[in-house]
Amino acid sequence: MVAVRFIRPWFLRTAAISLAEFEQAESVFKVFMNAKQTILITGGGGYVGSALVPHLLEQGNAVRVFDLFWYGERVFADDNDHPALLRIKADIRDQQAVQKALLGVGAVIHLACISNDPSFELNPKLGKSINHDAFPGLVQAAREAGVRRFIYASSSSVYGIKAEPDVREDAEKTPLTDYSLFKLQCEQMLMDGADDGAMTKIIIRPATVCGYAPRMRLDLTVNILTIHALVNHRIRIFGGAQLRPNLNIQDMVRAYELFLDAPHAKVHGIPYNVGFHNYSVEAIARMVKQTLGDETIQMEYVPTSDNRSYHINSDRIRERLGFEPCHSVEDAIRSIAEAYHQGLLKDPMTNPLYYNIKRMQQLTLG
Ligand SMILES: NC(=O)c1ccc[n+]([C@@H]2O[C@H](COP(=O)([O-])OP(=O)(O)OC[C@H]3O[C@@H](n4cnc5c(N)ncnc54)[C@H](O)[C@@H]3O)[C@@H](O)[C@H]2O)c1
Repeated sequence: MVAVRFIRPWFLRTAAISLAEFEQAESVFKVFMNAKQTILITGGGGYVGSALVPHLLEQGNAVRVFDLFWYGERVFADDNDHPALLRIKADIRDQQAVQKALLGVGAVIHLACISNDPSFELNPKLGKSINHDAFPGLVQAAREAGVRRFIYASSSSVYGIKAEPDVREDAEKTPLTDYSLFKLQCEQMLMDGADDGAMTKIIIRPATVCGYAPRMRLDLTVNILTIHALVNHRIRIFGGAQLRPNLNIQDMVRAYELFLDAPHAKVHGIPYNVGFHNYSVEAIARMVKQTLGDETIQMEYVPTSDNRSYHINSDRIRERLGFEPCHSVEDAIRSIAEAYHQGLLKDPMTNPLYYNIKRMQQLTLG
C-alpha cells in the first residue's frame, strides 16, 4: 500500500516555516507566483520590516522574510498569510540556511541586526557575531546566488558627534559605539568584496525612524516621548538641546522602494543619508504636546551629562534621486496616538515586545 502524506501548503500556515519546509514550499511558490521580483529581507520581522513587507507585497513582489522572529511571527498586520509571503525562521549566521533561502532571489534588503546600542552592549559577543561576523558570508552567498541588488541598512550613527550643521555622506566617520563601528565596517566589507558589476551594492544611512508599525518599537526618541505623553501625560526631557535626525517610517519604506529600482549608476557603491527632520529633543517634546493637543501634558526637564548631538544632511538623495519626504514627525506622532487609542499597543510601558533590550533579556539573549 502506498502511503500518501498531505502537507499543508505554506500559505495556509499560521507559523513561519522551517528551512526544511522551505524547499518544498519554494517549488509550489514558483508555480503560484507571477511576481515582479523575489525580495529576501533579513530581519524583516522587525520594526522597519513590519511596515516594509506589506508595502512590497502590495507592489506585486514576492517577499521572503528571513528572521529569527524575536518579536513575533505574525507582525505583518493583514498580510501574515499573503500568498506571496514566505516567513523563514532561521539565523543569518547559518550559512547553509542563507544559501538555500537565496535561491531565485533578485534583491536582498539586509535589516537583521541587534539594532541599538543598549541591546548590543547586553551581549557584545552575540552582537558582533550577528552585526559583523555574519555579514561577509551573507554578501558572498548573495553574489553566488546571482542576486542583482544588495541593499544594506547602515545607520547615520556612523558619523558620531559632529559640530558642523550639515553632516553629508563624505564627512569623517567617528563611530562612538561598537554598534556604529560594525555598521561602518560592514559598509566597507560590502564595498571591498568581489565586484564584477553584476550585483548593485547599496548603502543606506537612515536617521532614527519614528511612527507606528505593526511590530512597534517604543525605544526610539519620538516614539518614547509620544507614548509617555499618551500614557503618563508627562514627558521627561533629558537635557533637551541635543539634535536628533528623524525619519517617518512611511518615508523609510518609500526609500527602500526607491533603492530597489534606482538606476545602477546612481546608487552602486554610493552611500545615501536618509533623514530629513533634524530637531532638538526639546522641540520634539513640544511637538508631541502640540500634536496631541493635550494641555495637561507636563514637561519635566532633567539635567544630563549626555549632550551628544546628531544631525544629518540628505541633499544627496534629494538631488540625485529626486526623493522628498512625504511624512512628517507630527504624522508619526499622530499614527502612534491612533494606534494607542485603537488598542493596538498592549501594555505599552511594560510589554517587552516594544523594547528591544527588554525582549532580549526575556529571551535570555543577554
Ligand atoms: N529603527 C531605526 O531607527 C533605525 C535607524 C537606522 C538604522 N536602522 C537599521 O535598520 C535595520 C532595521 O531596524 P529595526 O528598527 O527594524 O530593527 P528591529 O530590532 O526591530 O529588527 C531586527 C530584526 O532582526 C532579527 N534578527 C536579529 N538577529 C537575527 C539573526 N541572527 N538572524 C535572523 N534575524 C535576526 C530580529 O528578530 C528582528 O526581527 C537595522 O539594521 C537597524 O540597525 C534602524
